[in-house]
Amino acid sequence: MDLTRMPDRRRFLHAAAVAGSGLLVTSPAVAVVPATLAGPVEDLMREHGVLRRAMLAYRECARRLRQGERAAVAEPLHRTAKLIRRFGEDFHQRAIEEKFIFPTLLEEPPPLSRYPAILIAQHEAGREHTSYLLEVSARGQMASGNVRPALRAIGSFIHMHEHHMSREDTEVFHRWRQSVPTERFEYLDAQMQDVEQRMIGPTGIEQAIAEVGDLERDLGIADLMQSTRR
Ligand SMILES: [Fe+2]
Ligand SMILES: [Fe+2]
Repeated sequence: MDLTRMPDRRRFLHAAAVAGSGLLVTSPAVAVVPATLAGPVEDLMREHGVLRRAMLAYRECARRLRQGERAAVAEPLHRTAKLIRRFGEDFHQRAIEEKFIFPTLLEEPPPLSRYPAILIAQHEAGREHTSYLLEVSARGQMASGNVRPALRAIGSFIHMHEHHMSREDTEVFHRWRQSVPTERFEYLDAQMQDVEQRMIGPTGIEQAIAEVGDLERDLGIADLMQSTRR
């Protein structure tokens, strides 16, 4: 099965519900996909994958900025920050995690019960970095005086999100899945699908992956093999 062509699960479930069956014919390359193949936690982690790839683009922008390539970096840096704002911060963090995932943690024993306040504060801190990077890279230009603060913003954003997303991947999502009763879980999942449809549309995750792929190509980091070290 060609996984890169598989529709995202929320779109799949929506369409399957419309069709009144658990199966969906999508394209000749993806004939039939069982509804049980993925769950909302996998969706959340796939969204993290997009953010991790966007952070790789940030890293490459930072490397080039240190080499003095200010003019060439402004445009891809701006596109990366825009993707992070729209897909990562507005959709994944604010509309999904803060509304559906974090509230259930408040009923958990510490330290999990303390996580929502910290994670939301980190979302807000990340937004400040993103706003700054959007501002200083607007119109495909960056003033020389903004290079050092931009490098600090990129470094802080990546450092914080590496900790943040690792904790969400290993503890938060897992605990959320375990603690929510099945009926409630299905209700939340349906609500999350509705939000996704409304905010990023049926192909939102695929589009975000394509966008981050374009960024990688434009920054010269698309070849997976080039990251191999022996
Ligand atoms: Fe988060
Ligand atoms: Fe997250």
